[in-house]
Amino acid sequence: MPVSPFIRALPKAELHVHIEGTFEPELMLEIGRRNGIALPFTTVDEARAAYEFSSLQDFLDIYYQGVAALLTEQDFCDLTCAYFDRVAGQGVRHAEIFFDPQAHTARSVPFATVCHGIASGLQYALQRHGISSRLIMCFLRHLDEPDALATLETALPYRDMIYGVGLDSSEAGNPPAKFARVFAAAREAGFACVAHAGEEGPAAYVRDAVDVLHVQRIDHGNRALDDPVLTAELAQRGMPFTVCPLSNLRLGVIDALDNHPLRRMLDAGLMVTLNSDDPAYFGGYVNENYQAMQDHLGIDDATLGRIARNSFLAAFLEPERRNELLAELGIYCAANGWTTWAS
Ligand code: ADE
Ligand code: ZN
Repeated sequence: MPVSPFIRALPKAELHVHIEGTFEPELMLEIGRRNGIALPFTTVDEARAAYEFSSLQDFLDIYYQGVAALLTEQDFCDLTCAYFDRVAGQGVRHAEIFFDPQAHTARSVPFATVCHGIASGLQYALQRHGISSRLIMCFLRHLDEPDALATLETALPYRDMIYGVGLDSSEAGNPPAKFARVFAAAREAGFACVAHAGEEGPAAYVRDAVDVLHVQRIDHGNRALDDPVLTAELAQRGMPFTVCPLSNLRLGVIDALDNHPLRRMLDAGLMVTLNSDDPAYFGGYVNENYQAMQDHLGIDDATLGRIARNSFLAAFLEPERRNELLAELGIYCAANGWTTWAS
């Protein structure tokens, strides 16, 4: 998918990307080899051929197999650096990265190994590319709440490295309310809170993510549109949504990009952002997601600029950095002929 020059250089933040979902088959095979870990495929072509999913669960089954190659601090650092090397050429100025500690600690990879490895990659991103970042630790919702509480406890000494907590993995049958206590404890400990909701689950899960977990952003949130009262309320409150169109297509959340709900979300006044989710698996990084919405829904450059602005407004940024990024975006937009929203 050719990305337009406008989208390529548009300054933006990515707010929904799982670092384990950026594991390209080339790097996966290399790391698997050096760690002596057998993977379910032996070539890049075989890997890509296996990336045919009909549901979120289908994808997660393969995703967790790939994760098994990651063992050392260096592995996590290499993975993180590779993501930032990729998006440095996509106009990304700031990224908020999810990771799934339980997918690693369950394999006896220490929490410290994961955290220090990713943190080294984040430092590299800042020094090499000037990209700022935040780290968000997700609880796996197919596991029970005591497991999530134990993970939160383990994370407390890393409070200065981890900005927030999230909720991911199999949504259907695992409602937000299952994690009410761990989110309350996380908030108490000062973590920002986000959650995947309304990807495969119903609008009621979006409602509960907001009312029970008190999240500051909704990850995906497509199904919120099924509840007009909820949609109007979230629009009025300016609740950010981290929308991931190529992910939605590849996981069967939508049947075609032409039918993606982004336009309806914008029309409803929701504060949407565009993101890649698991780019190594879904056929594109953040810019391919912007381009897909232009190609399939006719979203114009000015609106994509507004979405990029939303990404900076919805990011967990210090005011000074936010202002710097909004100013850069304003200059970019003015150079492209429109300034109305870019204050
Ligand atoms: N983990 C990685 N990608 C995910 C997604 N799209 N939904 C839920 N959990 C995930
Ligand atoms: Zn996700």
